[in-house]
Amino acid sequence: MPITILAIESSCDDTSAAVIKDGYVLSNLIANQEVHRQYGGVVPELASRSHQSNITPVVMMAIKQAGISVEDIDAVAFTRGPGLLGSLLVGTSFAKGFAIAQKIPLIEVNHLQAHVMALFILEKGKEDMIPPFPFLCLLVSGGHTRFIVMKNHYDMEVIGNTIDDAAGEAFDKCGKVMGLPYPAGPIIDKLAAEGNPNAFKFAKPVIKGLDFSFSGLKTSFLYFIRGMLKTDPDFIEHNKKDLCASLQKTIIEILIDKTVKASKETGINNVGIAGGVSANLGLRNAMREEAQKRDWNLFIPEFKYTTDNAAMIGITGYYKYLRKEFSSHEITPLARY
Ligand code: KG4
Ligand code: ZN
Repeated sequence: MPITILAIESSCDDTSAAVIKDGYVLSNLIANQEVHRQYGGVVPELASRSHQSNITPVVMMAIKQAGISVEDIDAVAFTRGPGLLGSLLVGTSFAKGFAIAQKIPLIEVNHLQAHVMALFILEKGKEDMIPPFPFLCLLVSGGHTRFIVMKNHYDMEVIGNTIDDAAGEAFDKCGKVMGLPYPAGPIIDKLAAEGNPNAFKFAKPVIKGLDFSFSGLKTSFLYFIRGMLKTDPDFIEHNKKDLCASLQKTIIEILIDKTVKASKETGINNVGIAGGVSANLGLRNAMREEAQKRDWNLFIPEFKYTTDNAAMIGITGYYKYLRKEFSSHEITPLARY
């Protein structure tokens, strides 16, 4: 019997719905909320309002694009957390109502686990491209930077974490210093491609073990820019591409150095990246170079599955469905999971 999952993601500022059948994506729709750009970050109140108006059309469109009818859906998976509570409440309530109306199981999904599970989404003709176990994944998103070791689809262990800011936050906050709109990560990525990565040097933190720290980099970037603006008020405009390239190089070096350490310490050479920052071209290229040098089996998600999307919630829900890991209707979202 085929298994069809409707998935809903509403943890931050994107409303997304997807339909997954036996691990393959039939549809994956994302409604972005442009409203936050002008505020330099996500405004929680505005995010939940936008989810409220977007969720029904996005879900209906995902079902239509999948070419299925509502009756074909076996379960509904939703993001329980972590994320913005008001945003999560919209997706959770919708999922519950849908499950009750259709008399189908409800499946809670951890957003972070789902970012990693995005690498297990099947594609016709490329079924052998999914990671074998044990698998070491560097999860780099807007809110988290951590290493996860997977022994199987259900067993994930965190072996390293950021002690302060996440890599995505480093991109976004430094971008804000340069006057870039939120999220600055993708813009820095583009500008960096045309800049000189060796133009400026920023100090890298010395953090023991497999943990990360990015707040020092953000502060040294801010003080450096402030200092330069004193002598040249147009310093940012004159050097934007070089600043982006140098900053990006520093972030990537921090990530790569620790990944090499994590692979050595665990002895795992099936290595991957996941999360919003894994869309970064510089990071993807640096990982490829490192993989070649170190004989890693490298797994990089397709661009469409790097930032927040419901397909990753769907694939995680699919594996939970196989083990009948269903949730009760009393379930509530968790800002911290
Ligand atoms: O995984 P994600 O969509 O949301 C969270 O779960 O946090 O990640 C969003 C983060 C933001 O910080 C954004 O700036 C960053 O991913 N990001 C990028 C790129 N695309 C998204 N950072 C660097 N380069 C990119 N191309
Ligand atoms: Zn995310």
